[in-house]
Amino acid sequence: MNKQVLITGSSGQISSELIPELTARGYSIIATDVKLPKTEFEYEVFEILDVRQKKEMERLVSKYDISLIIHNASILSAKGEQDPSLALDVNFEGTRNVLEVARDAEVEKVFSPSSIAAFGPETPKENTPNDVITRPKTIYGISKVFTELLGEYFWGKYQLDFRCLRYPGIITPNSIPSGGTTDWAIEMFFEALNNGNYRCFVNKDTQLPMMSMRDCVRGTLEFLEVDSKKLTHRTYNVTGISFTPAELYNEIKTHLPSLKIEYLPDYRQQIADTWPKSIDDNFARRDWGWQNSDDLKSITKWMIDSLKSK
Ligand code: SER
Repeated sequence: MNKQVLITGSSGQISSELIPELTARGYSIIATDVKLPKTEFEYEVFEILDVRQKKEMERLVSKYDISLIIHNASILSAKGEQDPSLALDVNFEGTRNVLEVARDAEVEKVFSPSSIAAFGPETPKENTPNDVITRPKTIYGISKVFTELLGEYFWGKYQLDFRCLRYPGIITPNSIPSGGTTDWAIEMFFEALNNGNYRCFVNKDTQLPMMSMRDCVRGTLEFLEVDSKKLTHRTYNVTGISFTPAELYNEIKTHLPSLKIEYLPDYRQQIADTWPKSIDDNFARRDWGWQNSDDLKSITKWMIDSLKSK
């Protein structure tokens, strides 16, 4: 397989950290996003692409002889609830376009993330299994189930090598996310260092599954490169560590004792309440050797050290 990779949503939280690692491993990256990046761009090739524009996607896939599409562009959970029509267009139409373009251009592989948002209130909340009732209640979650199922359909019907990971909340010192329900786990660190005070938009006992970005990037690369024959599934749960805002607050306080917190739950509380508290990722561990390295202590130390050195 050649190593020409087209990435959608290249300015987003995950792409911006995945791209340098892919480049280091010898992939040629065609970074695409709906608008020009804010800062001076470090990628060699960047193209404007709105994932709703199928013709333009076709043109780029053919121009660069793409063999792998990483489809990260998505409207996240909280933003999706504020503008469901936008999420319907971007998340559903975008995924459909990626899969159809990949099939028609004989792209070898497509990766697109799913999320803990794919689960819903009827899903068992503790150690949520890989194969379980989903029935999400947010438009973002519905779009993630759509991505999983349509990708698996293209795998079954057209032998397109579709791969998907259900990410938990991803924690990184390198960007402040926007529009997600797990954003509190990053915001708390930034506010702790900037103001010494954090107003948390979910209550203190809201336990959610999380993962460090460094585990996310390494795991995603391992999953992308594993021999297809090892995969018994096309969609895998993966997780790092589950914690509540109160637990994170206590851990950050061991480094920054004067940190204050207030809990002011808003509409994102209702979203979080429909998601799992913890995830069973044994299928990923068994099939392709997934392993997280970070726990709450190491994530906290890494975040604080990294943010202090900025
Ligand atoms: N982090 C995402 C969100 O909160 C979940 O996939 O929307």
